Order: sequence, then structure tokens, then C-alpha cells
Amino acid sequence: KKQNLTTIIVFGASGDLAKRKTFPALYELFTKKLLPKHTRIIGYARSPLNREDFLKRIKQYIKSPGDDIAAFEELCEYRSGEYGKPDDFQQMHARVRELEGEMDTASGGKNCGVMRIYYLALPPTTFVEVAGNIKENLYSNDVTNHLVIEKPFGSDRDSSKVLGGQISKYFREEEIFRTDHYLGKDMVKNLMALRFANTFYDAVWNKEYISNVQITFKEKIGTQGRGGYFDEFGIIRDVIQNHLMQVLSIIAMETPKSLDAEDIRDCKAAVLKCIPPATLDETLLGQYTASEDGSEPGYLDDETVRKGSNTPTFAMTTLHIDNDRWRGVPFVVKAGKALEDARVSVRIQFKDMKYPLFPNMARNELVIRISPAEAIYMKTVVKEPGLTNNLALSELDLTYQDRYTHIPIPDAYASLILDVLGTDHSNFVRADELDESWRIFTPLLHQIDNENITPLPYRFGSRGPEGESNFLEVFGGYVKPVL
Ligand code: BG6
Repeated sequence: KKQNLTTIIVFGASGDLAKRKTFPALYELFTKKLLPKHTRIIGYARSPLNREDFLKRIKQYIKSPGDDIAAFEELCEYRSGEYGKPDDFQQMHARVRELEGEMDTASGGKNCGVMRIYYLALPPTTFVEVAGNIKENLYSNDVTNHLVIEKPFGSDRDSSKVLGGQISKYFREEEIFRTDHYLGKDMVKNLMALRFANTFYDAVWNKEYISNVQITFKEKIGTQGRGGYFDEFGIIRDVIQNHLMQVLSIIAMETPKSLDAEDIRDCKAAVLKCIPPATLDETLLGQYTASEDGSEPGYLDDETVRKGSNTPTFAMTTLHIDNDRWRGVPFVVKAGKALEDARVSVRIQFKDMKYPLFPNMARNELVIRISPAEAIYMKTVVKEPGLTNNLALSELDLTYQDRYTHIPIPDAYASLILDVLGTDHSNFVRADELDESWRIFTPLLHQIDNENITPLPYRFGSRGPEGESNFLEVFGGYVKPVL
């Protein structure tokens, strides 16, 4: 089978993202024989590392390096240099050409093209400079060029547009892969199959049957040394505007014309267009304080956080989708750090039966657990087994670790890099989706910043601020099951 000659250049190779995610994902693909046969990987960063130190660093987060780790190392090399220096990039270009020549010889000239992947594991403040330097000194019209970048893409609608405009001077939209790692998670990738490959879900997926939808992200950890970054952004920009909105758009979109990436992204952008901006009236904001026993520090105790900061570490807000499918169905998105549990899930509550035969029915709920322990379960009313006619709320339960015991769930980044190698944009964020998502949150974010809205305190390890427990009922139309 003919394959591309592929060079993957990881910028920021000595940094956190690269060592925690990019290199372990590349190794996972290598182990599963999913990297193209002719692949070379160049790590690039400012730190002057020797080969040994570099390899040590990238192996730090590879959980169980197998016998093939030495062969993987063979593919990798390290170069140090500046991000803005044309010279450094020109020299790297010479090396890339050399590697492409070697791969061409090894393939006996039997290849179907050359691909260069520029993977920016860098802070967004460097994106424009690096993208420009790549375009002028590393890019070639004779090869396929893919630029991979990861959020944050700006901090509001305008700044995101400015950043997008600057990058688009150098790279065309079809060359850009905007990563949202939630789109690489197996259960998120499963949402399309669940919705569009099952008659019975497809049939009830609308306002006639669905009462409300909750998309929840809970983390037990606080800022953990990332206070400086986090304090500039807050939980809405960090998690809700991107990860949760991506999940929401797949849950709520219309049926795409085909499985083509552009048809899918057209539908995702279209449903976001139907969502009016989030409002403060339907939002609850919180910030965590030290745990009850004092063992866990509060957000403001983090020395990298601004004194007296009002940045929310918890937010829940109700969104409305003004289209025929969803009019009147509240979508509650909720995210928080330092909570009592770590879990990301979608909960879809169905309406009461119109003409119930049984009294006191509980509502059906479809729960899709994205992490940890992927699962889909449907809360279903049954007759309690035994010599009784009592009803009980039980579950039709598809817990992956019970059903798919021998299939390990791949890392999100491995799945996404595989898509970049295959030039598949389905699981990457298109510019218009990004813009729509910022449109929804920018007025609320500006109001929070300009009016310095004080978030409600909640204890580290609790469920969130006061008001959290009845928010769903008051603003989300949720009815607690009582059976
Ligand atoms: C990142 C956020 O994008 O996603 C972090 O910046 C958050 O604050 C992380 O912890 C969550 O990702 P995951 O894959 O652990 O759910």
C-alpha cells in the first residue's frame, strides 16, 4: 500500500503538552502500527537538550513502554532553536528535506506524496509568529502541509477573530486542524453513531419527547499549579465554551447530509447559530475555598492567582436552542473544579408519558458517561422482580469495561493525530463553529469581567455553591425521579 512520507514536527517539544500528550499519543499510534510506514518525528524547542535528555523527557509519561520503544526512539530527533528566527527554521527545513530524501529512498520511490505536520504544542501567544515563520521558511507548496493548534483560541469573540485572521494569512482553512481534545474521546466520537445509527434514539430525539439535557464536567482537582493560566480564563473559557459546546453541538445538531467532515461541521455550526447568548440571570458562578479540614487550599490561596480574583472555577448556565427540534428544551451546561466527584457526562431526561397507565411514574433518562469509565445507560421503569407489583427505576446498562473487556480505550490525542495523518477534519473545530461558540458566551464573559461579578464560594470537595442543587429544577426543567 502506498503511503505518505511523513514528517511530524512538534514545536514546544520540551513542554508539558508535548510530554504528557503528544509523544505518548505518537507512541501509541506507533505501537498499534498506525503511523505511516515512513515517518520521522522532530522535536523542536528553545531548551538546549541533548538527545538522551530529550528521549528521557518524552518517555516520562509513556505508561508502559514496550519492546518497540527503541524503534520508536529511532524515529525521533531533537533540535533546539528560537521560534521567531528565520535562520533556525531554514536549517530545520534543510534537515526535513534530508529526512524526506532518506524516506523516499527507503520507500523505493513508491510513495503517494509527502506530508509535513506542524504540531504546535505551544502557548497561543506564539501561534502567529510560529505560523508565519513556518510559512516563510519551512512550508512547501509541493507537499501536504498540516498545522495543528490547540485552544485557547482567543479569550472572546473579537480576540479569537483577530487570531484566526492572522493565522489564515499563512494557512488555508483546510490546512488547519484546531484541536479540541474532547472530540478525540471515544465516547464523544460515539455520539454520532448513537444518534444516527439507532432508529429508536433517532425517533425520540426532539422536544416532543425530551424534557431537558444536562452536560456536566466535574473535576476533583483544583488549579494545581496552573493558577496563572486559569486565572486569566476561568472555567467558562477553559472548559464550557470549547469542550462542552462541542459535545452539545453533536447532541443537538440536525442529521448531516453525509459523513463528510464539512457536512458534519455545517450541521454543528448551524445548531450553534440557533442559540441566543447565555445570560447572567440563568447562570450560577462559584469559586472554591479551602476544604473543610483545611487540607486542600482554596483558589485564592494559589500564589499564582491574582489577589482577590473573581475568576469563576464553577459555572452552570442554561442555554436555549431556538429551532423546531429543540424549542422549549433547556440545555444546562455545568463545569467545576475542586468538586466532590470527577465525571463528565450527558444526561437526557425524557418527558412524562402523556397518558400514563401507572401512577407516580419516574421519567426515563439516557445517561452517556464520557469519563471516567465510559458508559451509556437508560433509566428504565420495570416491575420490581418478585411477588410484588411495585415499580422500580432500573438501568439498561452498557458499561464499556464490562461489555468490551478486551478493548482498551485509546487516548484522545492518538485518535486526533490519526485523523490529521488521514486528513480528516470531522473531529476538528472549524472557524465558524469557534466563532459561534464565542458569540454565545462573549456578552456573559464581558459582563462578568466588567461588572466584576463575585462568584459564590463553595468548599473544595463539595458539590458546588449554594443554589447548585435546585438550579436544575428551577432553570433546567429537571424533575428528580421519585419511585
Ligand atoms: C483542558 C482544561 O482543556 O481540559 C483543563 O484546560 C481540564 O482545565 C482538562 O482539566 C480536562 O480534560 P480531561 O481530558 O481530563 O477531561
